[in-house]
Amino acid sequence: MVKIRSSEITPEHVYRARRTLMKGIGAIAFSSAASALVGCAGQPERAGQSITAEPTQPPAAGRLTDELGDPLTSFEAITNYNNFYEFSMNKEAVARLAQGFTLSPWVVTVGGLVNNPRIYDIDELRRHFPQEERVYRLRCVEGWSMVIPWLGFPLAALLREVDPKSGAKYVRFETVMRPEEMPGQRDPWFPWPYVEGLRLDEAMHPLTILATGLYGKHLLPQNGAPVRLVVPWKYGFKSIKSIVRIDLVDTQPTSLWMAAAPHEYGFYANVNPDVPHPRWSQATERRIGELGRRPTLLFNGYAEEVAALYAGMDLRVNY
Ligand code: MTE
Repeated sequence: MVKIRSSEITPEHVYRARRTLMKGIGAIAFSSAASALVGCAGQPERAGQSITAEPTQPPAAGRLTDELGDPLTSFEAITNYNNFYEFSMNKEAVARLAQGFTLSPWVVTVGGLVNNPRIYDIDELRRHFPQEERVYRLRCVEGWSMVIPWLGFPLAALLREVDPKSGAKYVRFETVMRPEEMPGQRDPWFPWPYVEGLRLDEAMHPLTILATGLYGKHLLPQNGAPVRLVVPWKYGFKSIKSIVRIDLVDTQPTSLWMAAAPHEYGFYANVNPDVPHPRWSQATERRIGELGRRPTLLFNGYAEEVAALYAGMDLRVNY
């Protein structure tokens, strides 16, 4: 039998304590042989994979559940069970290895096909764009999920400010390249830096945010500080961390995962229980903090809001 550590289960007393608390406050090109070895995980998540986290009082968040009534994942799990390959492929090592990651100074350069290119200092991003809480489900392609209370602002607000030119069709995002601080970037198997992309209408969708915090605090390095993308209807790997460049472009960007394993990862990466990953099913997921598995929802439960973006497209072809 698979042993589940007690730290994996959100204990009821923590949940109740939170409720009480809330009452008072608000590489190189990959050969096909190499790419067969990796993915946004070498493997789908193993049942009962553990989360080691120090029990701490969760900081405040404005809501206790998502709109489906699912409880928030604990702060400890969100900040100690991470995919951030620039630091490590071991989810439980990321938080430790990312400690001390230099977050200041930090600027985000926004350019490409825009009329008003800008360089934003991180403090300006936080001050200039009103920060709001968004409770979203995050579904990793590996088959686990969390409910996270992000702090951030709609990407559309920033894009309107830089004013895309008519030829702009896609948005390309890039993570900082800093191998001296990010040991994983010294691994030549990955075509660093981490790159992701969205179609312009996906980027402008009101659900798409740039997150600067979670649980009412600034992001910690392991979650993609100081600013990351969050696209809740897509697999988690689209939600690129520690962004330094955003470019409006006219051709579909090639993401790190498309370059690394083209037969496994497409551009769209919409959560879809009916389209299996070549090496595992996507029909179910394990919510971190729960036992057992639950069905995965089309577009991660955001179909009503986003299905129209893909009208007429074959989601099996455009995976
Ligand atoms: N962004 C960068 N730069 N590097 C990464 O390895 N991993 C992705 C995504 N963004 C990743 C990244 C994957 S696979 C997932 S599931 C989410 O980040 C995980 O986010 P979290 O650790 O904050 O839960």
